[in-house]
Amino acid sequence: MHDQPLTGLTLGQLAAEALADLGAAADSQALESWYATYLGRKGRITQAVRRVGELPREERPTFGQRANEVKRELEAAYEQRAQALKAAEMQKALAISAIDVTLPGRPVARGRLHPSTQVLRRIYQIWADMGFQIYLSRDVETDEYNFQLLNFPPGHPARDMQDSFYTTTEGILLRTHTSPGQIRAMRQFCPEPIRVILPGMCYRYEQVTARHEMQFYQVEGLVVGYKIRFTDLKGTLNDFAQRMFGAGRKTRFRASYFPFTEPSAELDVDCILCGGRGCRVCKYSGWLEILGCGMVNPVVLQNGGYDPTVFSGYAFGMGPERIAMLSNGIEDIRYFWADDLRFLEQF
Ligand code: DAH
Repeated sequence: MHDQPLTGLTLGQLAAEALADLGAAADSQALESWYATYLGRKGRITQAVRRVGELPREERPTFGQRANEVKRELEAAYEQRAQALKAAEMQKALAISAIDVTLPGRPVARGRLHPSTQVLRRIYQIWADMGFQIYLSRDVETDEYNFQLLNFPPGHPARDMQDSFYTTTEGILLRTHTSPGQIRAMRQFCPEPIRVILPGMCYRYEQVTARHEMQFYQVEGLVVGYKIRFTDLKGTLNDFAQRMFGAGRKTRFRASYFPFTEPSAELDVDCILCGGRGCRVCKYSGWLEILGCGMVNPVVLQNGGYDPTVFSGYAFGMGPERIAMLSNGIEDIRYFWADDLRFLEQF
């Protein structure tokens, strides 16, 4: 079209074409190329205006005026179009990033309780139902409380069962069992009767294997009162076993030894996996050992402040991880503290 004679009409046609093109520019990129095509340095309008010199002298002023009008008109149309496109693009971006309140929410992954915590809470519940309070005792102990007052004097062979983590302070160690809490509870409550459980983390200087960890929970139990007898211990622990492992469980008390109880026993329940027929978990014995127990040694009662000729009591101690392992057929105790979600998410 620009090779046609340069008249007002031709400019008008060019302008009409430019306006039509402008209306078709659908995004800012198309708009920029439109500008280059018509109004840029080499644009068609610009070129056309430059050729004013080819016109007869008398036509030049009119043409120039007309050319400026057309340019202004197109510039204005361009501005308007640019505004409109910008608004539309903004609208589109907003629509894309807008929150769709009708979409279902992203599921928030729920945490869960560690299997040890789950077993602990179950144990708390059972003992609470039977009238026991929870007594919390310290993790860092003295040799005196952890051993001596529990009737393990220095050099006592039963200490060999509980290799210890000693601190750099002489006579201070991480408790190897929850039993020192017995002395602390007795010294606090004496001369009142006591019925408590003492849960907590214990620490031993163990070679870590599938069966031994260097940290694990225990739940200790302590009853002190008048005329507490071995039958009370048997009846109560038997009841616990039924509540924990199911009604109708068979139990068996085997004689054992602990320095702080006399007599001492270990409690077995018939294997919860095979029902006593014999399997890998119960090592084909039909029985699972679940706790140690006994009548509180008179020496220990005395160390707690109670007169052993007036008071008697019983105590017991169990390991929640061991119970969780037996109940769930977990073969390696190291899973409990390995922080492996594949293990933890199964509970
Ligand atoms: N303290 C013992 C241990 O860690 C467990 C235990 C056995 C606690 C018998 C007791 C008990 O209270 O009577 O091996």
